[in-house]
Amino acid sequence: MSEEQIKTLEAQFEERIAHDEKIEAKDWMPEKYRKTHIRQISQHAHSEIIGMLPEGNWITRAPSLRRKVALLAKIQDEAGHGLYLYSACETLGVSRDELYDQLHSGKAKYSSIFNYPTITWADMGAIGWLVDGAAIINQVPLCSTSYGPYARAMIRVCKEESFHQRQGYEIMVKLANGTPEQKEMAQDALNRWWWPSLMMLGPTDAESVHTEQSMKWKLKRKSNDELRQQFIDQTVPQADLIGLTVPDPDLKWNEERQSYDFGEIDWDEFWQVVKGHGPCNKERMNARVTAWEEGEWVRDAAMAYAEKKENKKINKAV
Ligand code: 3HC
Repeated sequence: MSEEQIKTLEAQFEERIAHDEKIEAKDWMPEKYRKTHIRQISQHAHSEIIGMLPEGNWITRAPSLRRKVALLAKIQDEAGHGLYLYSACETLGVSRDELYDQLHSGKAKYSSIFNYPTITWADMGAIGWLVDGAAIINQVPLCSTSYGPYARAMIRVCKEESFHQRQGYEIMVKLANGTPEQKEMAQDALNRWWWPSLMMLGPTDAESVHTEQSMKWKLKRKSNDELRQQFIDQTVPQADLIGLTVPDPDLKWNEERQSYDFGEIDWDEFWQVVKGHGPCNKERMNARVTAWEEGEWVRDAAMAYAEKKENKKINKAV
């Protein structure tokens, strides 16, 4: 294709983005647009899959059948979110096996937040309330992202996330209104999950290497700092309501900005976790790779069954 032709295609593409048109899998797109979507969508999918591990740790220890059912339903949803997102990613010409290999080999990132331990039952509440709360804030704008398959996957995901956040907050409400020990357990979980939840929304806009271009392509509709501020402004009143204290001595309502001012985030901790040196990075990857290897027979059996069914269909047609 000549330089001239590429320039025309690029101009038409920019025009479509400017008019909020959805870019579909079969449409022409700049190679960099395709690559950054593979990067973000695959990491999003990996996060959903790895995100099942911290919560899976508490299924057998849920304090009641109701809590167990809600936790099982949530974890099952996360698996589904991962599959929608892998499917959306495959539309960009990358295979699922490649994506799995990138995750299992440590080449691909997943969200930092899932590298923290879940020490008490209250962590199930904090994860639903804070992590899924932050995920909703991050994912709602993605429902209007320019890439069609990603935007459509997000619509279904967001509907289910609100259940995740509500069941988590309900756990925190129950504990905060329970015995002093239960309230202390809820406060301890908030203390441990607050700052990693702020980090989950990515580095500051000044540090973010992708935000500027991602906003131009309408992949991102809000910047990391905007999403973080929205999360804080929405979540602090929820903590106040149940008598829990956000672990930030610098947190203060700013009347002029109509927003909360908040303290310094420990970005060294964030980058340490992103680079693989968080509290549970190794444990999470070992668990994921072991499940993949031990599940090989299930995949083989399913493929063998599918091939047998296919052959039966072909023999019948002949
Ligand atoms: N954990 C790990 N890596 C992170 C990160 C985090 N929390 N935040 C940023 N990074 C990485 C980026 O991937 C990028 O590295 P790369 O170039 O190797 O990909 C680098 O840090 C620079 O960050 P940027 O802000 O420039 O990167 P992005 O523009 O991609 O912004 C993001 C980061 C806001 C996480 C964006 O990728 C995004 O919105 N992703 C979609 C949502 C998502 O993945 N959420 C993760 C949690 S999923 C979840 O919560 C499920 C729920 O059910 C619990």
